[in-house]
Amino acid sequence: MRYSDDLIEEIRLKNDIVDVIGGYVKLQRKGSSHFGLCPFHNEKSPSFSVSPQKQMYYCFGCGAGGNVFTFIMEYENFTFLEALKMLAERAGVELPELEYSKEARAQADKKAQLLQINKEAAKYYYIQLRGKQAQQAMNYLTGRGLSQETIQKFGLGYSDKFGSGLYRYLKEQGYSDGLLHESGLFNADERHGMYDKFWNRVIFPIMDVNNKVIGFGGRVMGDGKPKYLNSPETKIFDKSRNLYGLNMARVSRKRNLIVCEGYMDVISMHQAGFNNAVASLGTALTSLQASLLKRYTDEVLIIYDSDEAGTKAALRAIPLLKGVGLATKVVNLNPYKDPDEFVQNEGNEAFERRLEEAENSFLYEIRISERDYDMHDPQGKTDFLHNAATKLLGFEDEIERNNYIESVARTYHIESGTLTNLVNKLALKGAGITEVRRPKSGIQSNREKESGIEKAQKLMLTWITSYPGIMEQITSYIGPEDFTTGLYHKVAEMIYEQYDQGQINPAKLLNHFVDSEEQKEVTALFNATIPLETDEERKRALTDVICNMKEHSIAYRSSHLDPTDMKGLQDLMRDKKALENWKESGIILHISFD
Ligand code: CTP
Ligand code: MN
Repeated sequence: MRYSDDLIEEIRLKNDIVDVIGGYVKLQRKGSSHFGLCPFHNEKSPSFSVSPQKQMYYCFGCGAGGNVFTFIMEYENFTFLEALKMLAERAGVELPELEYSKEARAQADKKAQLLQINKEAAKYYYIQLRGKQAQQAMNYLTGRGLSQETIQKFGLGYSDKFGSGLYRYLKEQGYSDGLLHESGLFNADERHGMYDKFWNRVIFPIMDVNNKVIGFGGRVMGDGKPKYLNSPETKIFDKSRNLYGLNMARVSRKRNLIVCEGYMDVISMHQAGFNNAVASLGTALTSLQASLLKRYTDEVLIIYDSDEAGTKAALRAIPLLKGVGLATKVVNLNPYKDPDEFVQNEGNEAFERRLEEAENSFLYEIRISERDYDMHDPQGKTDFLHNAATKLLGFEDEIERNNYIESVARTYHIESGTLTNLVNKLALKGAGITEVRRPKSGIQSNREKESGIEKAQKLMLTWITSYPGIMEQITSYIGPEDFTTGLYHKVAEMIYEQYDQGQINPAKLLNHFVDSEEQKEVTALFNATIPLETDEERKRALTDVICNMKEHSIAYRSSHLDPTDMKGLQDLMRDKKALENWKESGIILHISFD
């Protein structure tokens, strides 16, 4: 079940990347590229570039990059197939019906049946709550301040005390034990056979963004343990990529989304008019949930419990949210434990004010880090400020960085000039630079600092793909074997092969990398920067890079040479000679960079 490479390439060619991205991002032509504000991270000056020639985009700020498919996948949060479909439609290319395999068909059927079971279960619990036997449950919910309208809106329910009502209800409808077991709504043991998982609990149905019930949470009425039971993960319930309440919050038309910890918090906030609240599903926030949020908003307010666990959870969530380009703030609930308690005690207006006063997440992180230092001790405070300065280095944009420097300086009563100097000093030392440059990519931030030779190989790939005209002369100096770093080598081989076949086509080459992190890395290879103004400067840099690469490649190959490989040895000798020659008399390139 896959479309042919030719068809994929046809669709790519029929969707000019500047046209497509231009529909999402305001672009301005600057030289051979178009620039705009990056949609994948927050920025105030444009570092997002789209190259008509390469048919690729790349952000110099956050490292996002790829071809037209990658863009649609990232922006719309689509799978490759979804992106392909959308772009095929846009270009008027008809996609043939895919032959689903038998297994794929069976899987789809199973998911549909599990959704059906959940829907029936939600109905069952809903009816139970309205029955005579459920007075206690209803009292519990109204006792917690929920109105009938709210109970209705969230489809709350009740699982009775008998422990097999749902099982019998669904069996009557003809579902098999196997399927019921897979729904996660039942337990089984030898003595009792199958019986209901939820027993004497109020029930919170969990819906996906399309209002389909995918699982349940059940709360004891009172202090029993465990407080909540939840559906286990099933074929339709993935806790890492759904959020409670998002089906409603997504259409709230508020300027941000509020992320909290609990079901009751969400419900309570919605009832108070804050219908943009969502919660994760009893687990820590995941990066998939962050991307999901980014689909619907640009700003998130974190409103976690005010205890130690809540603070920890907030500190973990912030980088995930920022990583997908969400502006992030943290709401202070003091002295209340959670938003539910706050709203019940202080009401809407006070709550609204807390939302407005939400603290910028960077300043929150800095403030919380005070706890790791003895702030009354000169040394402690010094260490603290050094740490803060390292964090400040993370801001690419100079204006933004200065604004934060000022704010931190003001809070801790030091001259902003002093803090600026400290930050600059750290920048020069190279501390943290590679790490902070690419908030989005785990690969980049884990890598050690880029070595000189990697930079050289990267520049070469950038030049070749930006100015394919120079390739004719480059091939007599540099071959794919001179690209020694793993991924660079693979990419270089592909580029040289494309050249042999008549056209260098970096965006097409990207179709071969399925993993989006890999795509980003490859795109970065075609977007190395070096501040060179004139043709002369570029030529000189190019000859430097050629010699540099050759020298390294000779060293690399001699240390990896198989002693019986005569041809390899001869090549090596020849290259050594050539390099000496080039160094002595220089390389003459008749090249123009346009
Ligand atoms: N949770 C869970 N299992 C537990 C405890 C908590 O799955 N045993 C999840 C639930 O999604 C819950 C969230 O973590 O909503 C937050 O937990 P907590 O703050 O303890 O509960 P509240 O939502 O505040 O519920 P309540 O107000 O009823 O105590
Ligand atoms: Mn609570």
